[in-house]
Amino acid sequence: MSADDAQRALRPALAVELAAAAGAVRAMLEGRALPAAIGEACARARLTAASQAAVQDIAYGAARHLGTCRGLARRLNQRAPAPALAALQLVALSQLLVPGRRHEAVLVDQSVEAARGDPGMRAAAPFLNATLRRFLREREALIAALAGDPEAVWNHPAWWIERVRADHPAHWQAILTAGNQPPPMTLRVNRRRCTVGDYLARLRAAGLDGDVIGPQAVRLTQPCDVSRLPGFADGVVSVQDLAAQMAAPLLDVAPGMHVLDACAAPGGKTGHLLELVDCSVVAVDSDAARLARVDAGLARLGLSAKTVHADVGRTADWWDGRPFDRILLDAPCSASGIVRRHPDVRWLRRRSDLATLSRRQGELLERLWPLLAPGGKLLFATCSVFRAEGEDVVQRFAAGHPDAERVALGWVWQGQTRSEPVGHLLPQAGETRDHDGFFYGSLRKLD
Ligand SMILES: C[S@@+](CC[C@H](N)C(=O)[O-])C[C@H]1O[C@@H](n2cnc3c(N)ncnc32)[C@H](O)[C@@H]1O
Repeated sequence: MSADDAQRALRPALAVELAAAAGAVRAMLEGRALPAAIGEACARARLTAASQAAVQDIAYGAARHLGTCRGLARRLNQRAPAPALAALQLVALSQLLVPGRRHEAVLVDQSVEAARGDPGMRAAAPFLNATLRRFLREREALIAALAGDPEAVWNHPAWWIERVRADHPAHWQAILTAGNQPPPMTLRVNRRRCTVGDYLARLRAAGLDGDVIGPQAVRLTQPCDVSRLPGFADGVVSVQDLAAQMAAPLLDVAPGMHVLDACAAPGGKTGHLLELVDCSVVAVDSDAARLARVDAGLARLGLSAKTVHADVGRTADWWDGRPFDRILLDAPCSASGIVRRHPDVRWLRRRSDLATLSRRQGELLERLWPLLAPGGKLLFATCSVFRAEGEDVVQRFAAGHPDAERVALGWVWQGQTRSEPVGHLLPQAGETRDHDGFFYGSLRKLD
């Protein structure tokens, strides 16, 4: 028996995985982040690693289709079921949405079994059975009836859809569509150790495959565990989306420069920067556990930076007074650009969060600007598609600071000589460009 067969044999019935996924989705609907909720649900059910992966798949699928499934549930239910049953029904519907993806009769039976296995839901098992079977009978009509409901069509909250539409009138549908796709796994090849071409050959020799989508970026054909990546443990390669791989080159660092990496954890951009240039980096983050990942990542890459646990805005607590030639401010944001990786984010955020985050981003810019040497450059970044967390922040700051000059950013794509302007990078999954949504804005301090 192969290792995979053995893992499968150890997996419990689908009902147990559906129940765990429903528990996690219920927690998400109550405001918990989905990865933590999945971890807790799997621990409670004592699931194996293979089952945990299956639960994650099911729960992420439910988050990606939550708008549609809620719309369906409203049509199938005469009154709202209790939260645990509602979550199980949403999970089951999300699995049934794509015809033929799973054996439908088995799915319905296992969902009903999951309800029977829970004393609080047992009495409602026939109700669940009836609604799921009705969905299968009337699928096309029920889905067609959702056409006028934007949340059901786009699987994002209505306020989010309005906001993306207002910010990007020509691209809002493409942005929302991209947010519902499963993300690729993109690697960053350590330029100090290997060329992308040579690494591709190493991947192929290991039975994996991918394509080159950026100067150091290889997109895998199939995501896999990092333990299968040749040279991962030795720092030959790291996992990083292409949009995030633009930060280090756009920061425009020359050898010997003194650089602040503000909001650095878990350190993807710190590592990339040090792979590209010999420079001194101070990496600051307010989250101690995440900061430890910066140290671990740099140790794996064989590189070093000074890591500091502090609120980067409270400069008196940590700054030694030596001005920085470059500052990267990768500010905390809504994460609206990386929803394909974190499908729960859209349901957890509130409309009012954007104003708070935008204000906080502006405050961090204000606090860090005095640390920049005259002639130095600050790169402001967020993994957001909202203008309130990108262009608006930088424009507001530049308008209020006569010593700040906007620097045009360009990106030279693989195989192309032409440079493309960079600002709001809209998420996309194309043949040669496949990246999350991001914003980069650069400011130079006048001498
Ligand atoms: C978008 S993540 C940074 C990602 C990181 N630059 C990378 O490439 O791996 C934002 C980080 O900001 C940190 N953070 C939020 N507010 C902060 C503050 N006031 N001071 C320092 N770090 C902060 C969070 O702990 C989080 O790790």
